[in-house]
Amino acid sequence: MSPLSHGRSRQEAERTLAVDPLHTVAAGLTLATPEHRLPEAPLDPETAYRLVHDELMLDGNARLNLATFVTTWMEPQADTLMGECRDKNIVDKDEYPRTAELERRCVAMLADLWHAPDPRVAVGCSTTGSSEACMLCGMALKRRWARSNADRYPSREARPNLVMGGNVQVCWEKFCTYWEVEPRKVPLEGERFHIDPAAAVALCDENTIGVVGILGSTFDGSYEPIAELCAALDALRERTGLDVPVHVDGASGAMVAPFLDPDLTWDFRLPRVASINTSGHKYGLVYPGVGWALWRDEEALPEELVFRVNYLGGDMPTFALNFSRPGAQVAAQYYTFLRLGREGFRQVQQAARDVARELAGNIASIGDFRLLTRGDELPVLTFTTAPHVRAYDVFDVSRRLREFGWLVPAYTLPPDRQDLAVCRVVCRGGFSADLAARLVDDLRRLVPELRRQPRPMVDDRKTETTFHHA
Ligand SMILES: Cc1ncc(COP(=O)(O)O)c(C=O)c1O
Repeated sequence: MSPLSHGRSRQEAERTLAVDPLHTVAAGLTLATPEHRLPEAPLDPETAYRLVHDELMLDGNARLNLATFVTTWMEPQADTLMGECRDKNIVDKDEYPRTAELERRCVAMLADLWHAPDPRVAVGCSTTGSSEACMLCGMALKRRWARSNADRYPSREARPNLVMGGNVQVCWEKFCTYWEVEPRKVPLEGERFHIDPAAAVALCDENTIGVVGILGSTFDGSYEPIAELCAALDALRERTGLDVPVHVDGASGAMVAPFLDPDLTWDFRLPRVASINTSGHKYGLVYPGVGWALWRDEEALPEELVFRVNYLGGDMPTFALNFSRPGAQVAAQYYTFLRLGREGFRQVQQAARDVARELAGNIASIGDFRLLTRGDELPVLTFTTAPHVRAYDVFDVSRRLREFGWLVPAYTLPPDRQDLAVCRVVCRGGFSADLAARLVDDLRRLVPELRRQPRPMVDDRKTETTFHHA
């Protein structure tokens, strides 16, 4: 069944919702409200609230969700601000000019943080997340390429392609499918779990719209070597005249590296970097969904992609896949920028990295695991079972940790390392050193039981490999 079809069995479709008698008695109701059909009659708000609230109690605990990069804790002041803005549609820039102004300020702050040549005239916008931002940046790359190849595109011979590591997040596969661009992936090899600059350059030709560099990789938290990638493309230009721009997918790392690795050159300091995206809702420390897309200058964003809408009395430039979208996340992003400043961000991200490093060391000390990454780049660690471990695998670890409430995903790496399966822990604000110590306690408790298994429970692998990285 396609995930968008929402198909239900007849039995499921006929189900009704049952309210705890305590609530029904209090509300003076007998209740049989359908689950999958719009009920005929209204409910009182308290009963409706209870029904939804009680069902949602069965979701996992967001704070124990170590699978996600997305923010699961914000300060109460941020909650208040978001509550105050929940009725504002960000697209109504004439009606909510101050929200629009906060968005512009956030773009300017990010341009400055990422060393845009002139942050005052930086081009950028907020989005629903990195996926939308990547689509926009990919579209700009394609349009720029199409412009400079107008003599031969569109034609059968010229099919645009995008070069990237095999470890890209699914949004780049979506981009290529939706915008009819050929994905050219550098496979993983040996202990290299991300792009190789020389291999990427070897895939480039006159139809390459750009190369994607990831800071850092969704699969293991490692930073791709963006400066080396740019240098390799500079050399390609010297040799062949091909001038291929780079987009940096900084979904997580663009809000980590500026604070923890200021000497790492990965951003607009590299002239070849045309655009950068980040997820405000990951290490930008805002609840979902907000992302950012920035271009180094106006030239990098073809003007014809920006729509000027005469809407509700104003001339409004928009570059977005959506139209209406909540304004609250942008207000919360600006709050976070003001609240933390550079030093606050440094402290928060450093704390996450410290937790990740300590956790990596503690997991390594159990003796059954081999650490692939230890939180030295993104505050993320990945581990697999050591070669001597035969009784269980990382899918068993993931499954058993769920019994304690921890959501730690296990998945296989992309080609050509599908043979390697890992567990990943994303450390972020709200996952304290104390919680990390509890996780290690639980893991230590589980390991003796896992060692007693006759063999890995291979069936779990089928479901766990469908894990979606976010
Ligand atoms: C490198 C990378 N790019 C893009 C995305 C998609 O981000 P979003 O969930 O903000 O759309 C992710 C999500 O994990 C990611 O890790």
